[in-house]
Amino acid sequence: MDLTQAIAERHSVRQYQNRPIEGETLAALQRAVAECNAAGGLHMQLITGEDRAFDSPQAHYGKFTNVPAYLALIGPKGEGLEERCGYWGERLVLTAQTLGLNTCWVGGTYKKIPSAYQIAPGEKLVIVISVGYGATQGHPRKSKTYADVARAEGEAPRWFKDGVAAALLAPTALNQQKFTLTLRGDRVQAKAGLGFFTKTDLGIVKCHFEIGAGRDESVWA
Ligand SMILES: Cc1cc2nc3c(=O)[nH]c(=O)nc-3n(C[C@H](O)[C@H](O)[C@H](O)COP(=O)(O)O)c2cc1C
Repeated sequence: MDLTQAIAERHSVRQYQNRPIEGETLAALQRAVAECNAAGGLHMQLITGEDRAFDSPQAHYGKFTNVPAYLALIGPKGEGLEERCGYWGERLVLTAQTLGLNTCWVGGTYKKIPSAYQIAPGEKLVIVISVGYGATQGHPRKSKTYADVARAEGEAPRWFKDGVAAALLAPTALNQQKFTLTLRGDRVQAKAGLGFFTKTDLGIVKCHFEIGAGRDESVWA
């Protein structure tokens, strides 16, 4: 499975099988975390064997069960941290999907367990992502349309349309999809709306757009 297929098949999964992540799958996920940390200047950590974060009233409210592991998205405080966590966290989500795992971004419905991860001075925990073997593969959900989020003068090129299609499959907090993608010449301006976690959402959306469009970060205006 490549990342394009992972985008098509990924849905949020909150209920997991009672099965740990082990062996080559665990090693591959750990490698991806190290690579994304190096590329994104982040301090993301895969937490296993810690069951309190998702055994809390908040997590039960969010209907999480049997979460065997989660990614703690941590990085240096400052402008752009939320968006970077969104971008690199989603790379990990899609990589996990290619490894046969399922995930869910979790901004609110978990309990912070500071002893489980390392937060260096000047860093902060932005959000977490549950990871494990899903009880199901999740379900497609309602989505905004191309016309709701994309702006282009005249007929847009194929790569832009493909990028927007991938962006519409991106997870966003509360499925709010509060973003716009505007084509300007050969570049794209991505803008976040106002709301809960919209900067993180924007990073996630940009990750999907690049993969769908077959462009790298030089696409951004
Ligand atoms: C930044 C962010 C925060 C989220 N926070 C939560 C959360 O606290 N609890 C939860 O159950 N789901 C959470 N989600 C998952 C969204 O509800 C889910 O991605 C959205 O409904 C779209 O569904 P999909 O991921 O299956 O495409 C979050 C997603 C994102 C991107």
